[in-house]
Amino acid sequence: MTAAAGQALLYLDSADVADLCQAIDPLAIVTGAFLAVAAGRAGVTAEAALRWTAPDGTAARSLVLPAWHTESYGCKIINACIGNVAHGLPRAQGLIVLFDPVTAAPVGVLEAARISAMRTAAVSLAGVRAVREFSTVRHVGFLGCGTQARTHLEMLAARAQPEAVSVHDTEPGRAAALADHARKLLTQAKVEIAGSPEAAVGPADLTIAATTTTTPYVALRWLPAGATFVNVSLDDATEELLLGCERLFVDDWSLIRQDNTRLLGRLAQAGKVTGPGEPSVTGARQVDADLATLLGGGYSEPVGPADRVVINPFGMGVHDIALAAQVYAAALASDRGVRLTR
Ligand SMILES: NC(=O)c1ccc[n+]([C@@H]2O[C@H](COP(=O)([O-])OP(=O)(O)OC[C@H]3O[C@@H](n4cnc5c(N)ncnc54)[C@H](O)[C@@H]3O)[C@@H](O)[C@H]2O)c1
Repeated sequence: MTAAAGQALLYLDSADVADLCQAIDPLAIVTGAFLAVAAGRAGVTAEAALRWTAPDGTAARSLVLPAWHTESYGCKIINACIGNVAHGLPRAQGLIVLFDPVTAAPVGVLEAARISAMRTAAVSLAGVRAVREFSTVRHVGFLGCGTQARTHLEMLAARAQPEAVSVHDTEPGRAAALADHARKLLTQAKVEIAGSPEAAVGPADLTIAATTTTTPYVALRWLPAGATFVNVSLDDATEELLLGCERLFVDDWSLIRQDNTRLLGRLAQAGKVTGPGEPSVTGARQVDADLATLLGGGYSEPVGPADRVVINPFGMGVHDIALAAQVYAAALASDRGVRLTR
């Protein structure tokens, strides 16, 4: 990604991004990005968060995630307002800005929602695949049935053949829509709407939590032996579950530890959880490994078939940049997008 001085800025809207994304394999790119992090060829810096209350009283926020991946540099700005959904708007919207590696000038601006959802689902599946074969996933539970759940379902349906799917959402219409989508994608699976979160988690050997809760509620005892719980929305798993599960994996410990808005960061700051590779502290639970180490083969403890595993993916900009760089390169090659003058 190199631009001569004065080169136009390329803007890729959501339709361009969606089209170009069809030609890439997000799971392979995200897995490769984790390996690049493990090898010191990619990384992130601290994220910035701006939070406020929108005029309708709902929570709004803007996150800025700077990252680099081999020769690509940039940041994702991802904003969300809980009240958007009631007005028929997407909860989350944003932009990814790519920088020229030589001049540092911004060269690409990409609509971020699709890439952000894809990278989040791909990170979850990369983590799941590191601990379990997809072929062993027989029953999938979804807590929250919005954009992330839908993207996870689609990516999973292309790789696994579960026999059953349970979906739960506080908005019944959203649960019904995801259940319909699951029936179309997984024609062989029994799909049910669970009347409670416990009913969705209880039979599932894989649960994807993608709600907007800020009040943890998923108890350790809800998870059957051998279950994997992906804490995408970061505040569904209770302290008891985070501390008591047999294996706890994270994407990036430094990002989690710096954050005091999510439970795992608060537990770290309270001395109840220590990071992977840190000296163990009596009475504190240790994170088993980060996903870069796990995927790179640097974690040697085999995950037992009965182990209850929690994957806590805070969200690393490195995956957004890795995916966006591929989309940007494909756009240049196929002359897509709108060139903006500076
Ligand atoms: N960890 C990451 O990297 C990462 C990345 C992107 C998004 N996220 C998080 O994922 C979550 C979901 O994002 P989305 O875009 O799908 O949002 P969305 O608004 O499209 O969907 C969220 C769904 O959760 C439901 N819900 C809210 N509280 C619930 C509860 N207690 N129980 C059951 N259902 C509940 C809502 O009705 C809605 O249908 C958000 O919290 C977002 O911040 C995490």
